[in-house]
Amino acid sequence: MLSFDYSIPTKIFFGKGKIDVLGKEIKKYGSKVLIVYGGGSIKRNGIYDRTASILKENNIDFYELSGVEPNPRITTVKKGIDICKEKNIELVLAIGGGSTIDCAKVIAAGVNYDGDPWDIVKNPSKIEKVLPVASILTLAATGSEMDQIAVISNMDTNEKIGVGHEDMRPKFSVLDPTYTFTVPENQTAAGTADIMSHTFESYFSGVEGAYLQDGIAEAILRTCIKYGKIAMEKPNDYEARANLMWASSLAINGLLSLGKDRKWCCHPIEHELSAYYDITHGVGLAILTPNWMEYILNDDTLHKFVDYGVNVWGIDRKKDSYEIAREAIKNTRKYFDSLGIPSKLREVGIGEEKLELMANRAVRNSGGTIGSLRPIDAEDVLNILKKSY
Ligand code: NZQ
Ligand code: ZN
Repeated sequence: MLSFDYSIPTKIFFGKGKIDVLGKEIKKYGSKVLIVYGGGSIKRNGIYDRTASILKENNIDFYELSGVEPNPRITTVKKGIDICKEKNIELVLAIGGGSTIDCAKVIAAGVNYDGDPWDIVKNPSKIEKVLPVASILTLAATGSEMDQIAVISNMDTNEKIGVGHEDMRPKFSVLDPTYTFTVPENQTAAGTADIMSHTFESYFSGVEGAYLQDGIAEAILRTCIKYGKIAMEKPNDYEARANLMWASSLAINGLLSLGKDRKWCCHPIEHELSAYYDITHGVGLAILTPNWMEYILNDDTLHKFVDYGVNVWGIDRKKDSYEIAREAIKNTRKYFDSLGIPSKLREVGIGEEKLELMANRAVRNSGGTIGSLRPIDAEDVLNILKKSY
């Protein structure tokens, strides 16, 4: 295990009705708020009305930026920055899934930057002062509610870039599992796949000896496998939605990667797919992951797949090691299939023409290789994309 510093300062208010803390918590930072939200789900399920009435009761002025796209655009970030500057906003409150929260984070980071906000996405060292950000989570998936990352797309240049800054981590997040009852099946499935992928990215690390973190990762994977299915069948099952919601935060808030090297693999590949084809993030990951697993399986990586098979899928350790590994990978694919997620890139509108371009771009910012347990280069990525096609 590598050395590490531990601090995950986002305050979490978890449970039914926890939105009641909103007034008191916001007032610690100011009384002028920009509410950021997406295409309107929060208006349909009542979360918007509840938020607005709490803010009014507490004499908190609020302004709005709506229409944040899934795979949020830098153009929308710019609109939010303009409102913040014009209205002297003191806190940015995201209400939604990862796209909305990510958009809010970069708005908050861009308010005190004079140049084009795309600069700070490409080069976070330019970020100086960040407005406080808070979130009300409505979709268990990205973990943006408790991490310091935002992923923003620029459709003019076909770039989708993750930017991280410690001050972009939300000051607090409200996690009410009942707010995810209305999440449609396809987003529940994609969100579950995304949580699992964040966990895999840390779990399949080349750094050995983080036994405790690996045990937590295995528990998160079992949680997703069990409750993802239940949430699909019974959208209003509180226990299922609650477990998925907390898994979302724990998978990426930094806990699992403590003592590890944080060199991710499927995510940089998926971000190229979304940048060119605007697909749902979790769907891209579910298509790639089993193919990536098969591709990196060899004598050196085998032990990790055996642990995965035994501890997550309950496969008998006495079986042949390669048999365990292959069964675990097959189970992973079958699980994503059972959630109704497509298993081929061509099923989500991706053509063969850009596979090579995307493979080269996936590794361009990390010295030519991505991943940790078995680092792979552009040629390997292309092979995985072809297997996934
Ligand atoms: O826009 P609305 O109308 O709210 O509808 C959304 C959207 O259409 C809907 N939705 C959300 N909550 C709902 C709901 N519908 C009904 N009831 C609810 N309670 O779901 C759709 C998808 O929302 P979105 O926010 O795009 O999904 P997700 O949370 O999966 O976020 C995906 C984005 O996050 C990035 C992804 O790349 C992608 O851009 N990621 C962010 C990360 C981070 N900040 O750490 C890490 C991840 O790996 C990921 O890259
Ligand atoms: Zn993800």
